[in-house]
Amino acid sequence: MDGTRAHDGGADDVVVRDAVPADVAALERVLPSGGDHARQLANAAAGRRTFLVALHEGVPVGTVVVRWAGVPVTGHGVLPEIGSLAVAPALRGRGLGGRLVAAAEERVSARTGTAAVIHVAVGNAGARRLYARLGYREVGRRRAADEQELVLVRDLSAAPRPPR
Ligand SMILES: CC(C)(COP(=O)(O)OP(=O)(O)OC[C@H]1O[C@@H](n2cnc3c(N)ncnc32)[C@H](O)[C@@H]1OP(=O)(O)O)[C@@H](O)C(=O)NCCC(=O)NCCS
Repeated sequence: MDGTRAHDGGADDVVVRDAVPADVAALERVLPSGGDHARQLANAAAGRRTFLVALHEGVPVGTVVVRWAGVPVTGHGVLPEIGSLAVAPALRGRGLGGRLVAAAEERVSARTGTAAVIHVAVGNAGARRLYARLGYREVGRRRAADEQELVLVRDLSAAPRPPR
């Protein structure tokens, strides 16, 4: 298990690492999920997903997941999906979301060397701005349960993005 320390955009004192069982209760306090964090951990233990946690001053405050089964994306084949990105409300806007996506991308680069896909609700303007800033481009749309989602892809072999 490896953890990386962030030095970008005010996300100092942040470490991103694989989730461990002790993180689940702490995550439920800052990001109530109705049991989803425990399910993510079980999927990670089974090898289906990578479940990463951002720790701020040692406390779990954010999550991101890579789903390795992947999603077929026209023109790209089957791509690993980055999802379940969330940061505790009190800590948003400090670069943690970007840091989590970057950590997920590092796992994708190391394991599949492919692009990554992200789905975001059309109405989630804040997350859409974040993904656009991180270099994700819309390649299509899909119908989700409640709302249309954008299908966003980033070619991870592209030049690294500049520091924020
Ligand atoms: C989307 C989310 C993970 C961003 O986390 P974050 O730590 O604030 O992200 P960063 O600090 O790295 O980047 C902030 C960017 O996110 C966007 N953003 C979305 N919600 C925000 C909020 N409440 N406060 C500040 N920025 C927010 C802004 O566009 C900002 O980009 P900018 O700095 O270029 O304006 C966070 O707002 C969140 O948990 N939202 C609820 C869950 C969600 O919508 N997840 C995405 C599902 S696809």
